[in-house]
Amino acid sequence: MAIVRIPDLNRTITDTDEIRDYLSSLGITYEEWAPAHAVAPDANADDILAAYSAEIERLKAEGGYVTADVINVNPSTPGLEAMLAKFSREHWHDDDEVRFIIHGRGVFHIHPRGGDVAAIEVSPGDLIRVPAGTHHWFDLCAEREIRAIRLFKDPAGWTPNYTETGAETGYQPVCLGPAHIPPQSQTG
Ligand SMILES: [Fe+2]
Repeated sequence: MAIVRIPDLNRTITDTDEIRDYLSSLGITYEEWAPAHAVAPDANADDILAAYSAEIERLKAEGGYVTADVINVNPSTPGLEAMLAKFSREHWHDDDEVRFIIHGRGVFHIHPRGGDVAAIEVSPGDLIRVPAGTHHWFDLCAEREIRAIRLFKDPAGWTPNYTETGAETGYQPVCLGPAHIPPQSQTG
């Protein structure tokens, strides 16, 4: 479940309906896909795409996406820091950024034109769509792990266009949610 913070207003939103409404006012789509389909911890990309095929097809039909894949990074991923550095500076691109989180956590910072920056911490079960042209940046949480379904309108993917405003330097990529929920706490 996502957590939204608006640091400049000292405000934190944890209620799912409030999060959806607030992000909608910024043009960001947020959905919580529950119950999420069970996928094994070592499931490969094809298994994950098959498990979520109904949701993926709905998003393709609604948003004009033509391709889906799975990104899977962890601390042992070669070149991880260089990869993350590409996305942790404020940027925009000409395709939507659509992510459904399977595993791990990260923080999107959204910078509305003339509005307050919103930090969205995403975790398993969260779908987020950042529309093309939105100024934003992304960081992983401390455990530096994420596995997520991605959707694209252009199969070639997008490249970030940097705003070079330095806006990201004013905000810490703080993660508030639990890094890991032990299985026993899910059953009571
Ligand atoms: Fe992006």
